[in-house]
Amino acid sequence: MIPETAHGSNFASAAMAGFEVVPVPMRDGEVDMPSFRALCDDRVAAFMATVPNTLGLFEQRILEVSDTVHSCGGLMYFDGANMNALIGVVKPAQLGFDIAHLNLHKTFSTPHGGGGPGAGPVAVKKHLADYLPIPRLRKSEDGSYTWDYASRRSIGRVREGFGNFGVLLRAYTYIRTLGLEGLRQAARDSVLVSNYAAKRLSQVYSLPFSGKPRKHEFVISSKPIGKRAFDIAKHILKWGYAPTIYFPQLVDEALMVEFTESETKREVDEYIQGLLDAAKSDLTSDPNNTAVDRLDEVRAAREPKLTWRDLGYVQP
Ligand SMILES: Cc1ncc(COP(=O)(O)O)c(C=O)c1O
Repeated sequence: MIPETAHGSNFASAAMAGFEVVPVPMRDGEVDMPSFRALCDDRVAAFMATVPNTLGLFEQRILEVSDTVHSCGGLMYFDGANMNALIGVVKPAQLGFDIAHLNLHKTFSTPHGGGGPGAGPVAVKKHLADYLPIPRLRKSEDGSYTWDYASRRSIGRVREGFGNFGVLLRAYTYIRTLGLEGLRQAARDSVLVSNYAAKRLSQVYSLPFSGKPRKHEFVISSKPIGKRAFDIAKHILKWGYAPTIYFPQLVDEALMVEFTESETKREVDEYIQGLLDAAKSDLTSDPNNTAVDRLDEVRAAREPKLTWRDLGYVQP
């Protein structure tokens, strides 16, 4: 079972793993409990969710969801893509999740939307530990480490089992540098900045489910002001920013805003100003200060030109 607010990769990965995917309808931006309960029976293998969800809303009934899934014999799976809002504040396990992957390439210092490479350790509660892939790294009493291939119930080896070393190292360095209090502050800052921006932008754009506080991200719609998110994005390019648009698809003309903890107030204000400016501008000739203006995006995807000109750069 996957809430309909989920990212497409959730549906895709569950289907690739051979499960029948059942989308769970939402109400007011969160899991619709009556529909969820009606779908929950002993065929449920797992409930896969992102908390906060892709609308930036905390699933307030998540403990009830976890209890219900467990009572049907299913497992709770946590997509850690939005962990930015929760680090140091709450553990996925406390929300009832049995398995969690952490998208290190999103939360822990790597620029968001950087296009990869990704890395995602998968953490499980003790009752699933025997199923983890092999080899497993074990610490011996003398402090040395060994690879353990012996786990009999293991699912075996997995492709790319060691992850992406560069991303892992960077995330580890970030975690050690900030420490628990620093990580918690990063989460709080990302939530604060998102609510500040949502409040200011909602004066002009529509903010669906507006009575609820946001976590580290929020989604606005340009539909009520009669403009396409696509055109707004082209305007914002002039200001040097490339926003995420048309995600999640549940919101018409969606613009997703996720500053994270790392943007300064000046940059946040400039971005907001860019969006406010776009709302009252003629956008037809935007962008007009970039190397190329409007691309034929379908053709760019279908017939990509992947050649480049060698400028004769020699490694020093
Ligand atoms: C909620 C959520 N889950 C999953 C993903 C997939 O991300 P990736 O495959 O890069 O880890 C995204 C991407 O933005 C996301 O927003």
